[in-house]
Amino acid sequence: MANLAPKMERDLPPEILAFLRRAGEIAAARGESLYLVGGAVRDLLLGRPNLDFDLVVEGDAPSLARQLARASGEKALIHRQFGTAKFRFGNLSIDLVTARSESYPRPGALPMVEPGTIADDLMRRDFPINAMAIAITPSSFGQLFDPHGGKIDLERKTIRILHERSFIDDATRILRALRYEQRLGFKLEENTQRLLIEHSPMLHTISGERISHEMELILREEEPERILKRAEGLGVLREIHPSLRGDGWLEDRFHLARQKASPDPELYLSLLTYPLNEEETEGVIARLKIAGQKARNLRQVLRLKGGLDALADPQLPRSQIYRLLKAYPPPAIAAAALACDSPPARHNLELYLHELRYVKLFLDGEDLKGMGVKPGPRLGRMLEALLEARLDGRVSTRGQEEALVRQWTGEQG
Ligand code: CTP
Repeated sequence: MANLAPKMERDLPPEILAFLRRAGEIAAARGESLYLVGGAVRDLLLGRPNLDFDLVVEGDAPSLARQLARASGEKALIHRQFGTAKFRFGNLSIDLVTARSESYPRPGALPMVEPGTIADDLMRRDFPINAMAIAITPSSFGQLFDPHGGKIDLERKTIRILHERSFIDDATRILRALRYEQRLGFKLEENTQRLLIEHSPMLHTISGERISHEMELILREEEPERILKRAEGLGVLREIHPSLRGDGWLEDRFHLARQKASPDPELYLSLLTYPLNEEETEGVIARLKIAGQKARNLRQVLRLKGGLDALADPQLPRSQIYRLLKAYPPPAIAAAALACDSPPARHNLELYLHELRYVKLFLDGEDLKGMGVKPGPRLGRMLEALLEARLDGRVSTRGQEEALVRQWTGEQG
């Protein structure tokens, strides 16, 4: 059995190593065995940084978590009924669970859970590369427990499932497999790829919230378009919604988005749904159970797309651009600017986004009242007209704004 203690000493930040040793001692004093599992083990072996630590204890996770959190002056967040706990240690986020075995009452359902051994706990996981543990109790600190050949898979750059029913039990693993494959530059093992294709319709057993969560994880990756392209190629994307495409167009737009800013999942999602019509967009919103501001954003992008013809005029006055866009939130405009195919429309969207929306008058409502304008709708219209004059360059100083107001009030009076 490989001992990773020297590698841990070398590669982990000293405060993290000290925390692990201390946690192992506290567990041992309680007669419990504690393990580091999952992504942190995988990434340690790959030499990739990872600050999300999952610990598994053969014992009572909530009680141990409380003791560990107290030892570092933190508070643990406990879920008694799931035997899980969460706490922070500096900038580390730590999840601690009781070792358990799982069975699936029906495909896509959440698993039934029973306390078990570390071997049971690794058996319930998605892929061998995520099903390794490192003992951190003092008597065996650093020992790698790798019952499914995760280390060999890492060396061979392979994503493989643990058993034939894996994707049936939990079809989110289909999306997870593609995410790790593309993130790490690995390849699906042959039989895994065959079963992934065969079982991709099982994605229908997964709730909208869980699909949405997986989609967000995909869109948080460095190059999400690679995963979406692969998902399309294998026939997986259409099982989420038949209108979605991971094609060259999307690839270009995601690249462009990264060149211009650091895109968040919401922006990427707007680009993914940009080519869709209203019915398809509503279909995606319903399938992914997207609600609130996120759903509003997708609908606004769609509306904006419908109005792009009016913006595609290179001679359009700045005040017109402002008028056409002022009702839209900046994230929707940013998405349309990246997605639209018309250069003048893109130029106008960007002009609004980077310049026009920040233009402020010298005068405000109080100033106008001071100049004798009565409060009410007319004052509001004057401020708007003043802003348009400013945007079109007809006024550019406080004095000119005042002169224009005097001209209007004089005309009225
Ligand atoms: N896991 C699993 N099946 C799932 C979700 C999670 O087996 N459907 C297990 C894997 O062992 C995984 C661990 O739970 O390593 C933690 O899950 P998660 O935080 O999603 O993954 P990480 O491996 O930490 O990966 P990432 O780097 O993407 O956060």
